[in-house]
Amino acid sequence: MASLATRPIALTFPCQGLGGRTPGLQFQCTNKKMVPRKCARKAGSTKICAKFELKPPPYPMDALEPHMSRETLEYHWGKHHRAYVENLNKQIVGTELDGMSLGDIVIVSYNNGDMLPAFNNAAQAWNHEFFWESMKPSGGGKPSGELLQLIERDFGSFEKFLQEFKSAAATQFGSGWAWLAYKANRLNVDNAVNPLPSEEDKKLVVVKSPNAVNPLVWDYFPLLTIDVWEHAYYLDFQNRRPDYISIFMDKLVSWEAVSRRLEIAKALLVEREKEEERKKREEEDDETADDEAVKMYVESDGDDPEND
Ligand SMILES: [Fe+2]
Repeated sequence: MASLATRPIALTFPCQGLGGRTPGLQFQCTNKKMVPRKCARKAGSTKICAKFELKPPPYPMDALEPHMSRETLEYHWGKHHRAYVENLNKQIVGTELDGMSLGDIVIVSYNNGDMLPAFNNAAQAWNHEFFWESMKPSGGGKPSGELLQLIERDFGSFEKFLQEFKSAAATQFGSGWAWLAYKANRLNVDNAVNPLPSEEDKKLVVVKSPNAVNPLVWDYFPLLTIDVWEHAYYLDFQNRRPDYISIFMDKLVSWEAVSRRLEIAKALLVEREKEEERKKREEEDDETADDEAVKMYVESDGDDPEND
């Protein structure tokens, strides 16, 4: 396997619990990275990094009642999410992953589907923070503005989108997640490099993923997720996963958060395309400069009197 340090890392979101990288971009975000990871070097070149911290949901533990109970939040966030973060911190100490943002650790440790040991804890830490921020008290209803327009464009209607999302969440066999994502990827599911996406590629999609996998590893921009691990709903709904999914969509989704994420995704994509164009122009300029240098050398060599 190639050194992790030499592998390309995809661009991920800067905020809303995404914990990603934003070269050259600054966004006004209500939620910052999962944790600032300030690294320092001491004498003897020991690298010291701040650990990832367990970020609480952006509302009190009982704020989602009666749709999601305090008890569920206390177990789900306080025990399950906490364990992912604590285990991740133990796993990455002294590895090449130490010091990376959470989003980058997810992508790098996915390792083309041949996952490194840290992947599950990193992705679950990322997914849960994203999940908490996908909900709000008195949520649900219908989105508006550009998000609604894109949903209607890409799914036919909001009702058809709801049907597709609920179906994905209900049919994910075993543990996993369902997602609404903005697909403008330049990677395929094997993380192979593809050409830049065309306009036709830029659309909303519903996908489901097993266990800890999330759409970052396919270079999609996640916009909304629902956790369909049993631990997410068993205390409130027992085995009635479809009821949990319906309540999530009808009463809990924060469409404002989803709209913000869409806005950020599109801005990041524009920035990424500009960066790609800039690199392409630089490469072309370098090639032109090399050609000119060769031409000048040949011409000057031809003028050398010693060669006459
Ligand atoms: Fe969970």
